[in-house]
Amino acid sequence: MMDAGRHPKINLLTNAEVEEVSGFVGNFHIKIRKKTRYVDVSKCNVCAECVEVCPVVVPDEFQVGFSVRRAIYLPFPQAVPSSYIINMEECLGNNPIACGKCIDKCEPNAINLDMRDEIVEIDVGAIIVATGMDIYDPTPLDEFGYTRYENVVTNIEFERLMGPTGPVTGELIRPSDRKKPASVAFIQCVGSRSLKRGNRYCSNICCMNTVKETLLLEEYDPNIEKKVLYIDIRAFGKGFEDLYRRSKEAGTQYIRGIPGEITEDPVTKNLILSVEDTTAGTIEKYEVAMVVLALGVTPRLDAGLVQRLLTLSRTPDGFFMESHPKLKPADAPSAGIFFAGCAECPKDIKDSVLQSGAAASHAQILFSKGKVSIEALTPVIDKDLCKFCGICAKVCPYKAIEFVPKVKKPPKAIEAACHGCGTCGAECRFDAIKMRHFTDEQILAMIKSILEDKPEDKIVVFACNWCSYAGADFAGLSRLQMPETARLIRTMCSGRVDEKFVLEAFRLGAPIVLVSGCHFADCHYINANRWTQKRVEKLWDKVEKLGIRPERLQLEWIAASEAAKFTKVMKELEEMRKKVTKEEIIQAVEILNREKEKREQKKENQGK
Ligand code: FES
Repeated sequence: MMDAGRHPKINLLTNAEVEEVSGFVGNFHIKIRKKTRYVDVSKCNVCAECVEVCPVVVPDEFQVGFSVRRAIYLPFPQAVPSSYIINMEECLGNNPIACGKCIDKCEPNAINLDMRDEIVEIDVGAIIVATGMDIYDPTPLDEFGYTRYENVVTNIEFERLMGPTGPVTGELIRPSDRKKPASVAFIQCVGSRSLKRGNRYCSNICCMNTVKETLLLEEYDPNIEKKVLYIDIRAFGKGFEDLYRRSKEAGTQYIRGIPGEITEDPVTKNLILSVEDTTAGTIEKYEVAMVVLALGVTPRLDAGLVQRLLTLSRTPDGFFMESHPKLKPADAPSAGIFFAGCAECPKDIKDSVLQSGAAASHAQILFSKGKVSIEALTPVIDKDLCKFCGICAKVCPYKAIEFVPKVKKPPKAIEAACHGCGTCGAECRFDAIKMRHFTDEQILAMIKSILEDKPEDKIVVFACNWCSYAGADFAGLSRLQMPETARLIRTMCSGRVDEKFVLEAFRLGAPIVLVSGCHFADCHYINANRWTQKRVEKLWDKVEKLGIRPERLQLEWIAASEAAKFTKVMKELEEMRKKVTKEEIIQAVEILNREKEKREQKKENQGK
């Protein structure tokens, strides 16, 4: 942080919040609120005289409430810039000045309560999201007694107690009697890997953090008894297994089981842990002087705000979704945006450093090229057909279509920001959008050629390039047997499947139509397949009203790895196909032919 602060090419804006982001790769415009510190950084010499006279005493966040600070304070010892800041919500001295002691005491005149927030606007080519994570709040997990017993602390609190810059300068004490604990038990996975409470995912860092803490304890006083209660220990990084072994050799007792209940001895304030030891298959009770909860991590509370500002997507666990989990873990789906650290998923320091390096070099690659290469799959908007409804801009997952409502002007596609999912083209009811290389004409021609001969024997399958089509490919490579009646039409995303494609397939005699794509969190175009789902749901209603059985239109989410699922779905569809009668098909063909005639007639009348 200090290096970054001193770097001539890094402009560090601390105590600042991003308020608005517009533009696209290479041309982002960012509006930032630089909150005032009420202390002039260039004048402050960190003499601490202001702190000494400040009458306000509040819990110190950095010391997780184990000590106090004043309303004017240094956030933490290595803070950059190294200067005081006033928390105006706590200060007595603003409007009207009721105190002002710090101002009187400050010799360099660095304090100014009239300072105001500043709005800074910058233009950048790329953005790296390194917003970090929050820590799980253990208060709902009542069985661990965090809110009831003083000697149950979190791992963060334990770190502060053990830290040389902590409230007790590294002299470990237990909170109830300020004495050195004779024994410490660590409880793993608090708020992680739970289907019912807390989070489902593994927080990745807690096992090794606990292993490290047991070794610190051993160094601090080898006589302190150490127990770790765990589900399983995940020591998968370089050198981690060695650390784990060292911890065991140092006498740490690892017990496979999480306590169902913790109670307190009212006299000694020791804690009694009732645990099912799942290795021995016995119920045990352990008495310890102190309990440390190894808390899981959670996405930042304001992740939703960052998501909206940058048009990002999040996985079901709430962390930001990367462009590809294996091949592009540092890239956001939107071009020019990258991730570093726990914004994307829980990770330790080494992985965070690795991802930051990757993010910085990916941004640098963009700059050194000086231009962005995109797939030639972008939309072309026909100004004459556009009716200015703006639906294309609304459904675009990348905000790649500029549209000003109420101004009768056709929208504009920002090609550099577009990824070519085709959702805009599928949603446009006026055929005003043409998707390059996946035009309506091309897809309709494929449908026609598939159904030219014996349509009743065919199942028309729309498969997205990244998941379902890849799943079908994988099924073929794996030599899985499936009916040969399926005919696949590849689109980049299921979002491209226009309702007219489905209706045309039925009009040409298809007994069954399948729309398939990636599972929700996996769509390669952020959330374009949500629009697929909505569109298919509307289509089910529409075909039912027309007198066509809605079951003849199917929707399935099939991943690239789900070759077996693809085969299973095809077999089920084949069974369905056999049950669709000839009369049903003919009836649908007649209905849709009549609908087509009506549409054509209407167009002709409008042209006259
Ligand atoms: Fe597969 Fe969007 S990419 S559904």
